[in-house]
Amino acid sequence: MNPESEDREFYTYDKRHRFAAMYPLLVRQMFEDYGAGRKNVLDVGTGNGALLIELSKITDMELTGLDLREQVLDRVRENMRSHGVEPQRISLIQGDVADMPLPDESFDLIISRGSIPFWDDMAAAFSEMYRVLAPGGCFFVGCGFSRYQPLEEVRGMRPKWAGKGSDDPRNNWKKGTRIPDALEKAGIGNYRLVRDDYGVWVEVFKNAA
Ligand SMILES: C[S@@+](CC[C@H](N)C(=O)[O-])C[C@H]1O[C@@H](n2cnc3c(N)ncnc32)[C@H](O)[C@@H]1O
Repeated sequence: MNPESEDREFYTYDKRHRFAAMYPLLVRQMFEDYGAGRKNVLDVGTGNGALLIELSKITDMELTGLDLREQVLDRVRENMRSHGVEPQRISLIQGDVADMPLPDESFDLIISRGSIPFWDDMAAAFSEMYRVLAPGGCFFVGCGFSRYQPLEEVRGMRPKWAGKGSDDPRNNWKKGTRIPDALEKAGIGNYRLVRDDYGVWVEVFKNAA
């Protein structure tokens, strides 16, 4: 398969998508873990928009997706249409996680899945997410699958490059002390790093004002 058709396939969120069984379960997990009392969600590196599309089916939260590439946001609009999600239900913004065109303290939940391996400056990204996070808010950012999936299914879904010991540069972000170092550089001392069979995630809560 050539990279372009692979790309197109990845950004078309339908029942044939290779992560179709995962997105609703991961969204349920995120909503259960972090949704209570929170109103404004930002999905960074939204890609096909699947997390927000699934969130729109189970919550009334205000939903915003940010992605570096405008053409990716067009795909989100198409995916919203095919899932019957009204265009005004999800706001879409083009921008870089390291310099987001968003006001301070404007979201009380920030999620991001599968985008972090592509960030040039993880410290700048953490710092920006913390800036736009409202007091009492949290972010849950990383790469992986849902704990509600059977591990066998997760193993089958994991891209080949994510294998242990792989030299692929997309694995670099999680190696050694890179995540704690980036969090320290961003001035974030209070966090939880989750590394398990489902993936690698960073959880940060911002103190209430
Ligand atoms: C592998 S896709 C993941 C998409 C989706 N979150 C998912 O779980 O399927 C990574 C996305 O991150 C976006 N991205 C990469 N670098 C970014 C950056 N610096 N700022 C914002 N988005 C970025 C890419 O354009 C791409 O759509």
